[in-house]
Amino acid sequence: MESESRQAHWEKVYTNKSENEVSWFQENPAPSLELIAQVGATARSAIIDIGGGASRLVDNLSDTGFQDITVLDLSAAALDAAKARLGVRAHQVRWIVADATTWEPVKPYDIWHDRAAFHFLTDEKERHAYILRLKRGLKTGGYAIIATFAPDGPEKCSGLPVARYDSVSLGRTLGPMFRLVHSLRHEHATPWGSRQAFQFSAFRRDD
Ligand SMILES: C[S@@+](CC[C@H](N)C(=O)[O-])C[C@H]1O[C@@H](n2cnc3c(N)ncnc32)[C@H](O)[C@@H]1O
Repeated sequence: MESESRQAHWEKVYTNKSENEVSWFQENPAPSLELIAQVGATARSAIIDIGGGASRLVDNLSDTGFQDITVLDLSAAALDAAKARLGVRAHQVRWIVADATTWEPVKPYDIWHDRAAFHFLTDEKERHAYILRLKRGLKTGGYAIIATFAPDGPEKCSGLPVARYDSVSLGRTLGPMFRLVHSLRHEHATPWGSRQAFQFSAFRRDD
């Protein structure tokens, strides 16, 4: 999908729908927080949420005392919703409107988190571009935590086709630089009560 039409899609979604009218809404991003704790992140860890949208992960990280938080998303409207919710605390967060497949990281992070953005990359070239940014944007010894629909999860998200993974196929896709350290399966309940199977995996960047 072209970057521009992708951006238009997401801008429209976040302009027309409120936080809890989208299937991926989570009151509490518990599986992400679990893996962030399991990889030993501390309040001093630099963390970026790729395709963070209007997610409440940033609120939780801020509440826990994380001091170096960045949220990146294609949609300015999504980030505006998160900023409005956070109020004055939004000033302590770095907000980046960009496409994860073309963005150039200016510094490496300790933790790279992505819930349900990578899985939209169904094209090999786009995945390659994303993984190149992941390699530039994650420190050696840092962790990538990536959540996608599981093999038995839906074939589409927000009306767009997705690639589904388990931790093994995701690790194969990321390449040998990334070693699987934790994974969990999560049944997400949408705001209207349907279930979606997710996998969450944490990989250590070894070199
Ligand atoms: C299903 S939503 C998940 C949002 C958020 N991670 C959460 O858990 O609530 C997917 C998000 O990824 C963003 N996104 C999709 N493709 C992207 C890309 N190539 N670069 C940056 N953000 C992207 C969308 O704008 C949207 O906010």
